[in-house]
Amino acid sequence: MTPGYFLYHSIGQYPEKATEMSAALAEYAEVWAADDDSQWPRVLERRAEFIALWEALINAPKGSLTTADNVTSALYSLIGSLPEDRLRGKRVLVTADCFPSLHFLLAGLAERFGFTLDTVPLRQGETWVRDEDILDSWGPDVGLALLTFVTSTASWRCDLAGLTAHGQAMGSLVVHDLTQGIGIIPYSLTDFTPDAAVSTSLKWLCGASGAGVLQVRPDLIPELRPELRGWFSQPDPFAWDLDGFTYAPDVRRFDHGTPSVIAALASVPALRWHATQDKAAMLAHNRALQTQIVVGADALGLPLAGPEQEARRGGSVMLRLPEGTDTSAMINEFRGRGVHTDCRGLTLRLSPGIITAEEHVEYLLSSLEEILIIH
Ligand SMILES: Cc1ncc(COP(=O)(O)O)c(C=O)c1O
Repeated sequence: MTPGYFLYHSIGQYPEKATEMSAALAEYAEVWAADDDSQWPRVLERRAEFIALWEALINAPKGSLTTADNVTSALYSLIGSLPEDRLRGKRVLVTADCFPSLHFLLAGLAERFGFTLDTVPLRQGETWVRDEDILDSWGPDVGLALLTFVTSTASWRCDLAGLTAHGQAMGSLVVHDLTQGIGIIPYSLTDFTPDAAVSTSLKWLCGASGAGVLQVRPDLIPELRPELRGWFSQPDPFAWDLDGFTYAPDVRRFDHGTPSVIAALASVPALRWHATQDKAAMLAHNRALQTQIVVGADALGLPLAGPEQEARRGGSVMLRLPEGTDTSAMINEFRGRGVHTDCRGLTLRLSPGIITAEEHVEYLLSSLEEILIIH
């Protein structure tokens, strides 16, 4: 075990990850290299297990969730499926603290899809966008809004239920980006019904990179015609009549070419592991270590760069480093001591997970004190 792993906002770890992921990838290689005809049935069965595990995780109806390479491509696929009038002449609402990749995507699509991208700003000196500012900007001319479950820079957890309900009252499509919170903060589609949810599996869920997902509200699916489509979007991928393309009735219409299966296969053990965990205990462990960090940081005079209120926090605690801190030197110094963390600007991001223990936090805090003196 490392002396201190605080990078769950980037890549999550669980004790048997290396062994189980290696076995899954070895199984794939065996199946794929077999000189018989069982390759596709067997790998597609594993991909179906990945999908079923994800559906169970968020209580998504069967047939409403499929794989994507990443969150950005999942959102792209969704936008490209919307009826022509859904976004044209409307606003697409995002927040300044959304994941930048999604902002880059939407900004690039605005002209062709005929929408105005409206980014709710951060208030001066603040590190997350306030719910009330989102509500103030959200009128009936918003065609679609992207809500970030937990932000990657402040670990801020917005009022997802309240904002989603408001969006529905405004007639907007509401998309949830679950990436930063899923696997540590409870999320269930029995609590609200966004039009779509996008995520990936590598953070708190401890899966592989490339194991993204797109979930779409089942009763919306019939209206959607993904422009990124292909033989796997059909009810039967082997229907090869060039003039007879039809969309599958369910979320499979978002599949397109030959599915990329390896990331899903490599993530199945992590999702199975996660499914058997006591979620309340995982969160309690995270909260206990967060408290230890918050108290220790306070003693060092370091302010939080995220919410004080625990219930408003995702799995990470963000600390504001003093002006002028050489953050790359600091991260290198931590690394040299076996403490793994990172910075975004002057924000030190600390995400304690299942392999992180109380003594790791103690070591982190004593190292932080020494490093702050050096730098
Ligand atoms: C909130 C959030 N959304 C999305 C992503 C990842 O997006 P993508 O899979 O397109 O790289 C991240 C990665 O850190 C994230 O924090």
